[in-house]
Amino acid sequence: MSDNICVAIDGPAGAGKSTVAKQVAQQMGLLYIDTGAMYRAVTLKALRQNLNLEDADGLTKLARETTVKLVPGLQQSVLLDGEDVTEEIRSPEVTGHVSTVAKVAGVREVLVDRQREMAGETGVVMDGRDIGTVVLPQANAKFFLTASAEERARRRAKELAHKGYTIDIDKLIKEIQDRDYMDSHRAVSPLAPAGDAVIIDSSGMDIEEVVAAIISWIEKNK
Ligand code: DC
Repeated sequence: MSDNICVAIDGPAGAGKSTVAKQVAQQMGLLYIDTGAMYRAVTLKALRQNLNLEDADGLTKLARETTVKLVPGLQQSVLLDGEDVTEEIRSPEVTGHVSTVAKVAGVREVLVDRQREMAGETGVVMDGRDIGTVVLPQANAKFFLTASAEERARRRAKELAHKGYTIDIDKLIKEIQDRDYMDSHRAVSPLAPAGDAVIIDSSGMDIEEVVAAIISWIEKNK
C-alpha cells in the first residue's frame, strides 16, 4: 500500500464527508470509497430478512455472506449481492438502524478487511468513522471533518427534501445527536479523530473551500 496515496476522511454524520471525499478523489485521480455505504447495505439486507438486530452472531454471519460492491462513477452506485441499492440504503429506515448494525464487532471485522483490500489495490480517498484510527492507520493524510448538529441537520433536510421525504427538523437534529452518541460511545472503533488527523470544522465553509483546504494540505505534506 505504501506506493498508493491513501487519504482518510472521518467525521460524524452529515459533516459533508462524502461530497468532499468524492471531489478530492476526482481532482486527485484517486478512487473514492464510501465505507458508510457498506454498513448501510448490510443493514438493508438484515432489515429485509427481518433479522434480530441484537443478534451479533447472526449479523456477522450475514455480513460474511454478503457482497457489497462500490461501482465508481460520478454518482457512485452500490451493489448488494449484485442488486443496485444506491437509493434504498439512504432511506430513513436504514439510516435509523445502521448504527445498531455498525456497532457489532464481527460485522466491523468483515467490512474493515474488505476496505483494506480495496485500499491495497490503488490510491484511495476513503470516508467513514474509523478510517484514520483503525482501517488505514498508515494513511498519508487524515482529516476529521465536523460541523454543528444544527448545521448538519439543515444539510440533511435539504438532501432528503430533494428526494421527496417530509422533514421535521427538530426530529432530524435529535436523530443526528443520537447517532453521534452511539457512533462515538460504542465499544469497537468509536468515532474519534486520529491523533495525527487535521480537524476541519466545516460549519461556516462551503464544499469548495473544504476540498481546496484538504488538497492544499496534501500537496504541502506529501
Ligand atoms: O456515513 P454514513 O451516514 O453513511 O454511515 C452510516 C453508519 O455507518 C453510521 O451510523 C456510522 C457507521 N459507520 C461506521 O461505523 N464506520 C464507518 N467506517 C462508516 C460508517
